Amino acid sequence: FLPKKKKQKDSLINLKIQKENPKVVNEIDIEDLKSANVCYCRCWRSKTFPVCDKSHIKHNELTGDNVGPLILKKKIL
Ligand code: FES
Repeated sequence: FLPKKKKQKDSLINLKIQKENPKVVNEIDIEDLKSANVCYCRCWRSKTFPVCDKSHIKHNELTGDNVGPLILKKKIL
C-alpha cells in the first residue's frame, strides 16, 4: 500500500518569485561578474532575486532556519 501523493503547500520554498514560470532558472556568466564578491540568494526571500539582499537574516530569525547565500569570489589577477 502506497500513500497518496499529497500537495504540501506548507513546504513550498519559493513563495512569490516568478510564480508564472513553471521553473525558475537563473544563468550567470562568470566572465560578466563586475565585483570581486557577489552573493546569490538561496533562501528565495530576496527582493533582488537572484542576488541576495540579506532577507535570509529575517527569514532565519522568524523560522529558526539557517540558510544563507552562495558567495562567488572572483580572483583579481
Ligand atoms: Fe536569500 Fe540572502 S536573501 S540568501
